[in-house]
Amino acid sequence: MKTSSLFLFSMFAALSLSVLVSCSRSDGMLLPVIPQPLHVIGGHGGFNTGLGPEEIEDISLLPFPDMTESLEKSGITVSVLEEVPGLGSNEEGYRLEVTKRGVGIEALSETGVFYALRTLAFLSDDGKVPCVEITDYPRFPYRGMHLDVSRHFKSKDFIKKQLDVMARYKLNRFHWHLTDGAGWRIEIDRYPELTDIAAWRPYPDWEAWWNGGRRYCTEDHPDADGGYYTKEDVREIIEYAAQRHITVIPEIEMPGHSEEVLAVYPELSCSGKPYVNSEFCVGKEATFEFLENVLLEIIELFPSEYIHIGGDEAAHAGWENCPDCQRRIAEEHLGDESGLQGYLVRRIEKFLNGHGRKLIGWDEVLRDGLNTSSAIMVWRDMEYGVEAAMAGNDVIMSPGEYCYIDAYQDAPFTQPVAKGGYLTLEKTYSFQPVPDTLSPDLQARYMGIQSNLWCEYIQPDEYTEYMLYPRVLSIAETAWSFPFRKNWDSFRENVVSETDVLVSRGYNPFDIRKEKGERPEAARPEKHLAVGKEIEYLQPFSRYYPAGGDTALIDGVRGGWTYADGRWQGFINRNVDVVIDFGEPTEIKYIGAEFMQLIGPWLWQPHEVIISVSDDGRNFTELSRQVTDVPEDAAELIFRTYSWEGETTARYVRYKAVSNGIDNGCLFTDEIIVR
Ligand code: ACM
Ligand code: ZN
Repeated sequence: MKTSSLFLFSMFAALSLSVLVSCSRSDGMLLPVIPQPLHVIGGHGGFNTGLGPEEIEDISLLPFPDMTESLEKSGITVSVLEEVPGLGSNEEGYRLEVTKRGVGIEALSETGVFYALRTLAFLSDDGKVPCVEITDYPRFPYRGMHLDVSRHFKSKDFIKKQLDVMARYKLNRFHWHLTDGAGWRIEIDRYPELTDIAAWRPYPDWEAWWNGGRRYCTEDHPDADGGYYTKEDVREIIEYAAQRHITVIPEIEMPGHSEEVLAVYPELSCSGKPYVNSEFCVGKEATFEFLENVLLEIIELFPSEYIHIGGDEAAHAGWENCPDCQRRIAEEHLGDESGLQGYLVRRIEKFLNGHGRKLIGWDEVLRDGLNTSSAIMVWRDMEYGVEAAMAGNDVIMSPGEYCYIDAYQDAPFTQPVAKGGYLTLEKTYSFQPVPDTLSPDLQARYMGIQSNLWCEYIQPDEYTEYMLYPRVLSIAETAWSFPFRKNWDSFRENVVSETDVLVSRGYNPFDIRKEKGERPEAARPEKHLAVGKEIEYLQPFSRYYPAGGDTALIDGVRGGWTYADGRWQGFINRNVDVVIDFGEPTEIKYIGAEFMQLIGPWLWQPHEVIISVSDDGRNFTELSRQVTDVPEDAAELIFRTYSWEGETTARYVRYKAVSNGIDNGCLFTDEIIVR
């Protein structure tokens, strides 16, 4: 810990004075602890346990009797009681009191004691702890971190190393995304080909594999890359997590994102052929036999109350043309393919419930007619959380806007290639998961929040950690600390200290001190001649990416690093083709617009840009025609301006950016600037 004990002691002394003056609890006091504890009263002086932070953390992992014995030797007494003032029934809460005579911990459970020790580790500097009285419990019972090990496999030791971090920040759910189209990662005795073949690719890199035919191979193939966890590995990880009071929740994807299964068991797909479908055939009973057999082995391995079954992004095309699926739709009166997805999800829910487990699904499953035992994990719009709560389901919030930490965390040109998007530490920290307009009953359905790290573009361990930290710390604090205890400036300062702690422990976090920040163009409105003039769209913009709507391209508002920030207007399968009317002949010296290329989400530079002017709005004179110099396969985020400079007078300006014709390709631009 970087904060010196002298600083802490003086801070406490200053605060105690204000406590005396105001005669109230000093709940506003912020500690150098992540996540920030709930109630804090500072005192004078301190106590020396003789234990450093890492020693305290190590002791917290011992069996309970050994732990208490070890702590007692250092003046730390621990009591697990039926009732502790201020904790209500919160089993994860604790009271931690440091006086000049020693340290006292009270909690309702061993988990509460564990978290008290984790807080004590933050406060301990060379064994010295300042006098303080803390009463603390979490805002949410579900405080999650998700990791995608399908797109790029991560070793058992790497997973354990991240569980250590989770425990430090009081996160308690590890969502393990074990299966997806890019590789199956868990041993299933009954279906050996899942790990003999579907866990191996002839390309280590996901993107090369994606563009190279998306095939699998065997482990002995000369280029084989990938891997899987044996059942022994899984048991070891579950135990390691449990020791840190973390529950491991496995995700087994269905009915979509299942190319890898259907490559080795094509009889479970609609076509019956490998490498054709990504969804299971819901018409065939063999599919249910497979899924239930897999889930039986999962249930046997994982003690968690919840099993995640994915449920996201299933396409309907295969089902539409499949006689088995169509027969199922007719016989079960499901109406259509959406009903067919619902049939699968409800059947799996019933199966899990019958085995004493509950289902979690991505928010698509909201439409699948689930019972209220199931939990909805929101990844798209925040509104799905409200819908889920109103339907009576518990909710876990992990919307892309705040929780998808595969996005760039700083100016993309300073960062390793990522999926796109721009999600800073500050933005993750600003996440308010529960709308305060909801009734208390509905608010209570929000179980918690989670960060998600998808690893298509994230392969080496160091880079994975770089994307995780420090943004996971933001999610941890929002998950644990009540909103009135959150404070960005204090948190950022704590993150700076924590960055050094993480580095000293062998992690590779992004250093927030080096942050460059938002795209300079986006910092302030741009004043130019076209602002506030009339604009006619000869081709419409996408209703999914309207930015500011009909005036977006002449409102002076420039876009940031990400196309999804509400400031870039999108055109899908279309050209940008607009005419700006200045109302009268106007002297013009510059006309230009900037475009973004990011081929992951299918954004390209225009093939060609034609700029022309007119006096009557019918007959246009071409001023310039410019073909892009950006290759279609340039994978990094690229901005390009296409402009004309000169001298002319005209009433109308036409700006036409021609799409490169790639099917479903998008053009994104933020402003047509005229000077
Ligand atoms: C998801 O990102 N498809 C859950
Ligand atoms: Zn089918």
